[in-house]
Amino acid sequence: MQKSNVRYFENLKELITYCEKIIDNKNCLTFVDGNVLTKFPILQNTTMNLKKIEIKEDEKNLNTVTKIWEDMFEQSIQRTSTIFSIGGGVMSDSIGFAASTYKRGTSLILIPTTLLSMVDAAHGGKNGINTKHGKNQLGTFMIPEEVLICPEFLNELPENQIKSGLIELIKAGFLKNPELVEEVYDIDITKINIELIKSAIDIKNGIVESDFKETSERMYLNFGHTIGHLIEIDSNHGISHGEAVAIGILKALRISEKKCNLDTVVVESFENFLKKLEFDIDYKFNSELNQLRDLLSNDKKSSNNIVRYVLLRNIGDPILIDYNLDELLNELNYA
Ligand SMILES: NC(=O)c1ccc[n+]([C@@H]2O[C@H](COP(=O)([O-])OP(=O)(O)OC[C@H]3O[C@@H](n4cnc5c(N)ncnc54)[C@H](O)[C@@H]3O)[C@@H](O)[C@H]2O)c1
Repeated sequence: MQKSNVRYFENLKELITYCEKIIDNKNCLTFVDGNVLTKFPILQNTTMNLKKIEIKEDEKNLNTVTKIWEDMFEQSIQRTSTIFSIGGGVMSDSIGFAASTYKRGTSLILIPTTLLSMVDAAHGGKNGINTKHGKNQLGTFMIPEEVLICPEFLNELPENQIKSGLIELIKAGFLKNPELVEEVYDIDITKINIELIKSAIDIKNGIVESDFKETSERMYLNFGHTIGHLIEIDSNHGISHGEAVAIGILKALRISEKKCNLDTVVVESFENFLKKLEFDIDYKFNSELNQLRDLLSNDKKSSNNIVRYVLLRNIGDPILIDYNLDELLNELNYA
């Protein structure tokens, strides 16, 4: 499997110098999130051929991708050109999808600017967009050539976005590293340690390398996401990805306590952490049961009324359980 290089930069100046060097007069196009461009005006002075773009979660769809393709055609992008994405996970998914399909794939470099995209969305080569049938229902697998991490971006990231990112960080710990979980519980959200970011990236990339096309171990990365995606859609994207996954993880932990004898302390500690973050953990679904059922049966881990669901026997010890859709929906009533 092709691997992306992950590079770390102390500050934006170093990052920009590196990017300008690799472009080296080649044709390139850099899609940059509008909020990021406003907060970091230093980006405006680059030779990276910037195109400002604003994509919300409910616009992560084929219409947006079509506009991105048009921008690429207008700029005469070739397969040998380089596409950069500077933004969060919504950007990297949309630009990644467009870049992986444009002329059957152009070179892609991701520069994640949210904590969530630094530790998770920018890695592993999944590029998903939403349809009315659910989250990430259309997608490709294409590993970006490079992922460039610069924590300076986090200086301007709103607190709620930092909190969202902590959820994907702690997910990595739940799957592979109990110490990481403890470190996230004790974190000072104004000072995110780069070593924590590196640990989560290494965990994700290790899993992806063992199962790129998600036939076995990579499914663990969906921990908390089956229900998280339902919540994102049920709330009409009023609840962020990170917060929805947080509730999804809490429900999965509660079910794990019942089904897999997961220690109650693990569940309580996570619940207390979410309360500390001021997350609303008592989410009530708005949709009818049959609508939730339809959404769940469209989930990529579902087939023939069975959904493959991730539970924990212990921190660092996940397990895949085949659940009947109705049984899982029923579990949600008490979880
Ligand atoms: N492909 C994958 O493997 C994968 C994995 C996890 C999540 N995702 C996807 O990632 C998406 C969520 O990404 P996200 O949480 O990064 O949200 P996002 O991309 O929507 O960004 C959140 C907000 O932060 C702003 N922003 C970004 N960087 C900023 C900065 N440095 N300073 C100030 N504002 C900034 C953006 O403009 C946006 O308003 C979801 O669509 C989810 O499905 C994909």
